[in-house]
Order: sequence, then structure tokens, then C-alpha cells
Amino acid sequence: MTDFPLRVRNGRDLKHFRGFTEELLEFGTQLPPVHLAEYKEMPAEDKSAFNEARRRVITRGVIVRNGSYQNVSTVLFGVMREHQYGSGGGHGVLVSGEPFMGKTTVARILMLELLRQRLHANPDCLRAGEVPVAYVNLPSTGTPLGLYRMLAQFYGLPIGKRETEATLEGMVQNAVNKCRTEILVIDDVHNLKYGGPHSPKVSAAIRRLGDDINCPILLLGIALEKTNLLIGQEGAQIAARYRQAEMATYQKAHMRTWRNLVKGLVDSMPLLGDNRHGMVALADELYVLAKGRIGNLNSIVSRAALDLIEAANPEQEVLTSHLAAAKAAEVVKADNFKARVNRRRRYAA
Ligand SMILES: Nc1ncnc2c1ncn2[C@@H]1O[C@H](COP(=O)(O)OP(=O)(O)OP(=O)(O)O)[C@@H](O)[C@H]1O
Ligand SMILES: [Mg+2]
Repeated sequence: MTDFPLRVRNGRDLKHFRGFTEELLEFGTQLPPVHLAEYKEMPAEDKSAFNEARRRVITRGVIVRNGSYQNVSTVLFGVMREHQYGSGGGHGVLVSGEPFMGKTTVARILMLELLRQRLHANPDCLRAGEVPVAYVNLPSTGTPLGLYRMLAQFYGLPIGKRETEATLEGMVQNAVNKCRTEILVIDDVHNLKYGGPHSPKVSAAIRRLGDDINCPILLLGIALEKTNLLIGQEGAQIAARYRQAEMATYQKAHMRTWRNLVKGLVDSMPLLGDNRHGMVALADELYVLAKGRIGNLNSIVSRAALDLIEAANPEQEVLTSHLAAAKAAEVVKADNFKARVNRRRRYAA
């Protein structure tokens, strides 16, 4: 009989700043390196605790500071520096890219870095009521009112059901400033209703929110340049206030960048075997298997790493092309299924 893995739940409310920051700090925890010889010397219970910790690191998501991270980080740094002593906001960074390219991941790495820096300078800052980073992920059918509600929920503001848009807007702006937030991330902005009567309201709401808070907004979404967020009169105001940061794509012509990505990812996997050897050849095979996409690559490598830990043969914890191909087949199957569902949804709409 299969011993199904128990889903570990921490009960955190990720839509509230407290749960979100706790989760973020955990996401950035890394395991101290353990060598094969050390592992072999461990008593059985230490081994099993170590293996559990490894699985936790992998399933939470292993990260690489890739080109996308470098680009967004540089642009955000520039924006923050230019406005360091200025009053008011009105500025921000816009990241537009295809699905599954790593937009949310990059934002998470940046929020984590900023949070760690502030905690390093003042370990009590969270207890003192500061919320250095704020994050909301917009649901489909998002409206400006919905955006303010989510922000109010994030800051734990006591809001009634009948609060007007204007009241909520004021409350949220006040919370962002009072809690000394330094980056506000609005993810999946493409979910805001861009059509019909909502359309001009959306850009205007984001512009107003930005104008009245003392920190930059990081707007993330799919193909934003084609939406009314940036098109039209109100859109032009957003376009003028935001600097764009590019997401990295991996084309065959730049195999070195891809190889570095694979190397970074494999190095971050807490595996005990020698994975340095044959890395270039494996990276080239993974390019084909993952279709040059970071999301697929991480899925393949993470699944393979979990299998290797499960196999309980530490010397052999080596990613091979055979294993990569098997895991890629699983990922492609899942991909095809998702594509079929999406096609059906499109036809149904
Ligand atoms: N910097 C990175 N390091 C490691 N893996 C990454 C990185 N960026 C993205 N990935 C992988 O790609 C997957 C998709 O990333 P993410 O969810 O951040 O993309 P996204 O662009 O926000 O997608 P969507 O448009 O669907 O919201 C992640 O689950 C992760 O496996
Ligand atoms: Mg995302």
C-alpha cells in the first residue's frame, strides 16, 4: 500500500501581512551544505530529519538569481534611489511577461531581500508595526474596489461591507504610509477588468494609489502593454510613471545563459551526489526537454531531485539525462492537459 505523504499545513493567512512575511522568510531559508561522508555518519533519525528538510526546501521552491531577477532588481533599485528623499510616490516598476516565466518568483526574491535587510538593521521592526513589503494577487474579475479590499485585508484594516471606494482608497493609502511599506507588489494585474465601463477606472485607480503612497509599486502581469492599463489617456499616465523591466527569455543563440541557469538551479538542489560532472551536456539536453522555459526546467529538476532522495542511495543522487527525460515526459503530459483545459474554456466562453 502507498504511504501517501502528509500535506504539511502551517495555517498561515497569506493574504494578511503577518502570514505573508512569515512565509516569505521561510521561503528564503536554505539548508547548510552537508557532504556525503557526513550524511553517511548520521544516525538514522538525523538522516530522516535531513531528508525531510531537503524535501521541504525543494517543494517550497528552489530559486536562482537569474537575468530576470538582475533586470528587475536594477530598475527597482534605480527607482528607489531616485525617490529616496522625495515626497509622495507616483512611480513604480512594470514587469510584463508571458505566463510561467518567473514574474512572481522575482518579486518574491526582491521582497525577501528587502525584508531581510530591514530585519537585519532592526530585528524588532515587524513587532513595531512596520510592514516593509506588501503583496496582493488579484483574482480574475478584479475591480479597483476589489483591489482596495485585498489591500485592506493585507494590512488587517477593519472594513465594513458597505465601505465606499473612496473611503477604502483613503484607508489603504494611509496604512501603506503608516506601516512604512517600501515596496507594494500588485501581481496578476491583467486580471483587473480592462473592458467596458471599468476600463478607464482601472488605470486611474492605480495611478491615484501610486500618487498618494510613499513607495514604489511593482506591477506584474501578462502582456500588460496590450491592455488598457497602458493604452489610452489614463494608460499614458501610468506608462509615464512606470519604468519597464524585462523578463529574461532563453533562446538557443544564448546557450551560455541557459547553462548558467541550469547550473545555478542544480547547485541549489540539496543533493549529495556529484552533479558537477557532465553538467554542460545535461544542460543542453534539458534545453530541449524544458523547451527553454524556466518553469518547465524547475519542474523537471525538482521532480527528479525528489525521486533521487526517495531512492535512498546517496552516492547516486545524480541527475542523469535518463531521469530528466522521464520527468520531462510527466511535465509535458501535465502541460498538454492544461492546454486542453484552456482550449475548452476558450471555446466555452
Ligand atoms: N528565478 C527562478 N529560480 C528558479 N525557478 C524559477 C525562477 N523563476 C521562475 N521559476 C520557476 O518557474 C515557475 C513559474 O514561475 P512564476 O510562478 O514566478 O511565473 P509567473 O511569470 O509569475 O507565472 P504566471 O504568469 O502564471 O503568474 C516557478 O514555479 C518556478 O518553478
Ligand atoms: Mg505569477
